[in-house]
Amino acid sequence: MNKNFFDAIKERRSIYAISKESPISDEKIVKIVEEVVKHVPSAFNSQTTRTVILLGESHNKLWDITMEALRKVVPEKDFSSTEEKINSFKAGHGTVLFFEDFAVVESLQKQFELYKDNFPVWALQTSGMMQFSVWTAFATEGIGASLQHYTELIDEQVKKEFNIPNNWKMISQMPFGKIVKAAGEKTFNPIEDMVKVLR
Ligand SMILES: Cc1cc2nc3c(=O)[nH]c(=O)nc-3n(C[C@H](O)[C@H](O)[C@H](O)COP(=O)(O)O)c2cc1C
Repeated sequence: MNKNFFDAIKERRSIYAISKESPISDEKIVKIVEEVVKHVPSAFNSQTTRTVILLGESHNKLWDITMEALRKVVPEKDFSSTEEKINSFKAGHGTVLFFEDFAVVESLQKQFELYKDNFPVWALQTSGMMQFSVWTAFATEGIGASLQHYTELIDEQVKKEFNIPNNWKMISQMPFGKIVKAAGEKTFNPIEDMVKVLR
């Protein structure tokens, strides 16, 4: 990462127009995800996050599965925009799948009864941190990505296709690739409504 922290945060946007090329090698992509998963914090250092990096045909397969799942639930007359959207993700270089290992969550719930209700929430919070970190680290390397949630629709088939343990709860899908079109303008709410300073 060769940018300062705030430049990197500002650079991360939802990029929907992506292509198969990647500005960095697959090894570097894997390294980014490994570094994030290793160093981003988790409650009680439980390290509940699991990721799967889909490249090449595996990436294509994910979006084929999603397309077919959507075809079953979206009315045919509305399907062309859905098809276009899914094809735009498939047009990317790869996808990172984010999971949380609920076997670990359940074991923590048994171990620490007092925090029983918190562990599933904390797992989701950790996942959010992971997703943001991968997304931002990708941005610093010129990789465009977006965050998708076809989760319930594709969960069963994805697990079967990619041999993913049942106790891994799928959280999101992050398709990425070379940026074909930059993100548009973004609007911001008044910062005073969102950040209060009390002295
Ligand atoms: C928790 C969360 C869930 C999101 N889910 C989706 C999603 O399902 N599909 C999508 O296209 N974008 C999704 N987004 C992206 C947001 O719409 C986007 O980050 C926001 O509009 C700000 O735009 P930016 O990412 O370009 O800064 C999600 C973002 C967050 C943080």
